[in-house]
Amino acid sequence: MNKGIWLNSSRGIQDIQNLLRSYLEAVIQPGDVVVDATAGRGRDTLFLAQCVGDRGKVYAFDIQEEALTSTRELIKKHDLEKRVEIIQASHSEIAAYVPPDIKAIVFNLGYLPGSTSKVATRAETTVPAIAQALNLLRATGLMAITVYRAHNHALEESEALLAFLTSLDKKEFSVLQGIYLNQKKLSPYWVIIQKNRRKTNESSPAEKNT
Ligand SMILES: C[S@@+](CC[C@H](N)C(=O)[O-])C[C@H]1O[C@@H](n2cnc3c(N)ncnc32)[C@H](O)[C@@H]1O
Repeated sequence: MNKGIWLNSSRGIQDIQNLLRSYLEAVIQPGDVVVDATAGRGRDTLFLAQCVGDRGKVYAFDIQEEALTSTRELIKKHDLEKRVEIIQASHSEIAAYVPPDIKAIVFNLGYLPGSTSKVATRAETTVPAIAQALNLLRATGLMAITVYRAHNHALEESEALLAFLTSLDKKEFSVLQGIYLNQKKLSPYWVIIQKNRRKTNESSPAEKNT
């Protein structure tokens, strides 16, 4: 994949996804295994499939048939079916489908763009899904979360998410937020989480308990 093809340079950071994608694109290498936790119309799945190359793999989750159909069609149109496994299940079950050592995981919260359906992500499933997904990341792996706050229960979801993310141990994770300071109060924002590399003589809290 040519680096930078997803950058919409005419809109720059007016597009909330631009900076996030350019960072993901720099970090994801051919052959990596990655996850799209909210497939929707498949745009993130396609982006990830292009980043991982022929030897890589994308697991794409959604609970709505309409979203999975759109994603399947987009991936087929680009002839990338071999790189993508589409899973109709909640991302809160991610650990049952995805092996550990994942390089990058993308969550794009909210509802399916262009749908009349009001099925949107919810705090009760988003926070446990993100907690599980962080365990699946490999050292130096990334999670990218984009948070839209226009849907019902979005504020509840955003508050629960920020409470969880601010509690993460800074030695284990670096958590960076990108937010528009000069837009309306509930404009979208993103968060990038990196699982930090541990020193070889340091054990994880889970290892200490065994
Ligand atoms: C903002 S859209 C995602 C946009 C998408 N990444 C794209 O490129 O078009 C959010 C999606 O999350 C899905 N969703 C809601 N709850 C979910 C859950 N518990 N597990 C997986 N997907 C969920 C919705 O069905 C919706 O398609």
